Amino acid sequence: MMAMTDTRKLSNIALIGFMGTGKSSAGRLVADTLHFTFLDTDDVIEARAGKLITEIFAQEGEPAFRKLESGLVEELTHRRRTVISTGGGLPVKPANLASLKTHALVICLWASPEKIFERVGHQPHRPLLHDPDPLAKVRSLLSAREPFYRQADVLVNTEWRSIKDVAQQIIHQFRLAQSVHR
Ligand code: S3P
Repeated sequence: MMAMTDTRKLSNIALIGFMGTGKSSAGRLVADTLHFTFLDTDDVIEARAGKLITEIFAQEGEPAFRKLESGLVEELTHRRRTVISTGGGLPVKPANLASLKTHALVICLWASPEKIFERVGHQPHRPLLHDPDPLAKVRSLLSAREPFYRQADVLVNTEWRSIKDVAQQIIHQFRLAQSVHR
């Protein structure tokens, strides 16, 4: 279960996890249900840059994108009642996860590489999957990231669940954590 200090606040919900695990879809539904604001880090970065993530990767490189991501994470510490959906690579930087944990319950959405590939393998807007063998890329990236994803407070398997069911699980876990931490 959760290892939290008494100083930790649970004002927000942060969703982490690999591409295609349903962070944005489930996150929007959770936000609607709880009357929270929904924020997607990729959307904010794209809006500010005035270009798509694929363009940022192509023109400025992945490190530049990661800097924008970390900068944005730091801005979120004063948020309240927000569901934050994060880009799949964001928790790989420990400072990002540590920062999210100061104000949010961090929930990781999980799915197998095969399921992820089925969901996003053919989508053109994910630069990291522009690879001759996208399934192999999903497998290797997912296993490299697993130790980071596992540092979430809660892990929700999305493999066979509908978006609605995943959203309900998230809300249930949030309420549970809040009741423990009041
Ligand atoms: C990335 C995931 C994407 C986006 C970028 C990099 C990753 O977000 O941030 O393409 O490193 O896994 P989603 O997880 O929302 O697709």
